[in-house]
Amino acid sequence: MSKELRPETRLVEAGRRKEWTGLGEGKGGIVNPAVWRASTMLFDDVVAMEAANPPRDGTLHYGRNGAPTQWALAEALTEMEPGAAITKLYSSGAAACAAAILTVVGAGDEILVVDSVYGTTRAFCETTLKRFGVTTRFYDPMIGAGIAGLIGEKTCAILLESPGSNTFEVQDVPAICAVARERGIATLIDNTWATPLFFQAIAAGCDLSIVACTKYIGGHADVMLGSVTATEAWAERLDRTTRMLGHACSPDDAWLTLRGLRTLDVRLRRHEENGLKVARWLKERPQIARVLHPALPDCPGHEYWARDFTGATGLFSIVFDGGEPAAGDRFVERLELFGLGYSWGGFESLALPHVPKRTASPNAWEEPIVRLHIGLEHPDDLIEDLAASLSRYG
Ligand SMILES: Cc1ncc(COP(=O)(O)O)c(C=O)c1O
Repeated sequence: MSKELRPETRLVEAGRRKEWTGLGEGKGGIVNPAVWRASTMLFDDVVAMEAANPPRDGTLHYGRNGAPTQWALAEALTEMEPGAAITKLYSSGAAACAAAILTVVGAGDEILVVDSVYGTTRAFCETTLKRFGVTTRFYDPMIGAGIAGLIGEKTCAILLESPGSNTFEVQDVPAICAVARERGIATLIDNTWATPLFFQAIAAGCDLSIVACTKYIGGHADVMLGSVTATEAWAERLDRTTRMLGHACSPDDAWLTLRGLRTLDVRLRRHEENGLKVARWLKERPQIARVLHPALPDCPGHEYWARDFTGATGLFSIVFDGGEPAAGDRFVERLELFGLGYSWGGFESLALPHVPKRTASPNAWEEPIVRLHIGLEHPDDLIEDLAASLSRYG
C-alpha cells in the first residue's frame, strides 16, 4: 500500500492483504480477517516445515508466532508509523513496555527514563532491571536537548513518554532524539496517549514506539493488548527479544483491536472535542488551580504539542486550588457519570485521584490532583455532573 495515503485512509486500508482476508484466487473475500485460533500448524512435508524457519510474520509456523489475525493488526500498526519496519504484539501494554526495554538494554548499562513515566514501567526499571544489573536514572520531562548533559559512558537508551502519565508534560521529542542519534543511543517512547494517529513517533526520530492498545486503539474497555513498532535498524533485535521472551498475542484480542483501529479517527476526534469543552469549563472554576491538558497553554510543553501533534485525546488532569488529598477522593466519589477505574481510552468517562511520585522533576503538587478521561457522552451532561460535585468541594 502506498505510504502517500493520509492517516485516516491508512486506518481503513492498512493490513488488509487479500491473502489474509480472501478465500483464494478469484473467489473474493471478507473485509476483516477471521479469528484464526491455533497452536499447532501442519506442514505438507519436512521441506515445507524447514522452509518456515526462522519464524516470520506471514508464514504459518506455530501458534506463538501468530496467524493472519495477528499479522494483519501488526502490519496495520506498522503502516500507521511512517518510517517503521515492524510491529510486535503483546498481551498487554505493560508487557510491550518491558519487552521494548529488554530489547535495548544489557547488564551494566544505564537507561534514562522520563520522571513522568507510567507507574508500572517505573516499577519494572526499579526492580526487575535493577536485578539484572541495569541502572535507571530519571530525568525531568522538560529537559529537551539538555539530555546531552545526562548521557554517560554506560547510557544505552532514553525512554520518553509524551505527554507524561498523570501530569501530562509534553516532551521535546525531536530534540531528545536528535541528541540520542548523535551519541548512538536508542530512544523508546510510550505513545499511548496520542496513538500514531496524533503523533508519528518514528518519523519524529524515535527508534521504538510503544502503544498500550488496551486504551484508545481497542477503544471499548474490553481488550488488553500492547504493541511495539520499530525502525529497520531495531527490527531484528525486537523480533528476537520478543520471541525469546515467549510472547504470544491472542487472536481474539488482535481481532478486537484491529476492529477498534478502524474507527480510531472518529472516536479520537470526539474525545478531543468533548475533552477540550470540559477542560476549558474546568479552567474557569474557582476550585481549580490548573488544568493539565496538552492542548491548553497551562500545560508544561504545550508549545511542543502545538508543533508536533495533530490532535489531543480525552485524558487530562486537574489540580485543585487547595484541599486535603481526601477532598479529591470525595470529589471523585460524588460523580455519577464518571466511573472510578484504572484504565482509560474506552467510550466511557472515568475519574482517578492520584498523587504523582517523582524523583527528578519539580512538578510535585501538594494539592489534590484528579485525572479525568472524557468519554463519548454529551459533554454538557459531564459538565453538569462535575459542577454538582465541585459545588461541594472542600
Ligand atoms: C501510558 C501507559 N502506558 C502503558 C500502560 C500499560 O498498558 P496495559 O494496561 O495494557 O498493560 C498504561 C496503562 O494504564 C498507560 O497508561
